[in-house]
Amino acid sequence: MTETLDGKRALVTGAAGVLGAAISAALIESGLKVVLLDVAEDRLREVAIGLGPAAQPLALDISDPQAVAAACGRVRAEQGEIDVLVNNAGILSNNKAAETAPEEWRRVMGVNLDGAFYLARAWLPAMKAKGWGRIVNVCSLASKTGGLTAGTAYSTSKGGLTALTLSLARESAAAGVTVNGIAPAYIKTPMVTDQLTEAQRRKLLSEIPVGRFCDAEEVAHVVRFLVSPLSGFITGEIIDINGGLVMD
Ligand SMILES: NC(=O)c1ccc[n+]([C@@H]2O[C@H](COP(=O)([O-])OP(=O)(O)OC[C@H]3O[C@@H](n4cnc5c(N)ncnc54)[C@H](O)[C@@H]3O)[C@@H](O)[C@H]2O)c1
Repeated sequence: MTETLDGKRALVTGAAGVLGAAISAALIESGLKVVLLDVAEDRLREVAIGLGPAAQPLALDISDPQAVAAACGRVRAEQGEIDVLVNNAGILSNNKAAETAPEEWRRVMGVNLDGAFYLARAWLPAMKAKGWGRIVNVCSLASKTGGLTAGTAYSTSKGGLTALTLSLARESAAAGVTVNGIAPAYIKTPMVTDQLTEAQRRKLLSEIPVGRFCDAEEVAHVVRFLVSPLSGFITGEIIDINGGLVMD
């Protein structure tokens, strides 16, 4: 219980995105050094500069297993092990089954599910050996609802990520490593502001009991809670963040 986050190292994927940047900022505020990983190099550099010296950018496509293994090896050699992994990178597809080409299906699975697996595989052994670690996977409400607006590949990839969360949690619990997921819905990011139509946004706002979309900082707050040393008895849990859209 005396464990502190000060000086621990986190890796956040999709860190150049709205949510990833908010999560990285929250972890830095909690005293962690953060490796910010994203495939969008220019935005990544800007976000890392904005977050100051505790932020280290790492440009990488997480769907490429060889590139992930090589990059994790470099991080390990230069900075040491990662204590906290946040698998946040994701791509959205709103296409339903018949409109989803096999290439699109593979791309969505490659980023949303395979990438999280490659990273967990790279960092979990050292967390277990140390006897302390945290993994938080950014899942989605879509895996439970079938996708109110999200498509088949996206919803299925997030269902896979939920199952991966439970599987990793079970194999890691006795070693002091917790693995949890968060299932947000409709955060104010480009996935909502650019990838939904005005009509979809109006309909959703009338259906979300809280009556608004979610701020990225509210999601980052839940990640910070799960990463806390005092959350060590929570594992294999998926926390909904959906303004009451689905209550269960
Ligand atoms: N916005 C929402 O309402 C919402 C709801 C539920 C879940 N989510 C999930 O939250 C996470 C963050 O999404 P966001 O809304 O901030 O979107 P975003 O598009 O702002 O951020 C996603 C980031 O992932 C990065 N990325 C994409 N492919 C990558 C790859 N191959 N390798 C490395 N990085 C890659 C992108 O460059 C981007 O910076 C995603 O997993 C998304 O599915 C979002």
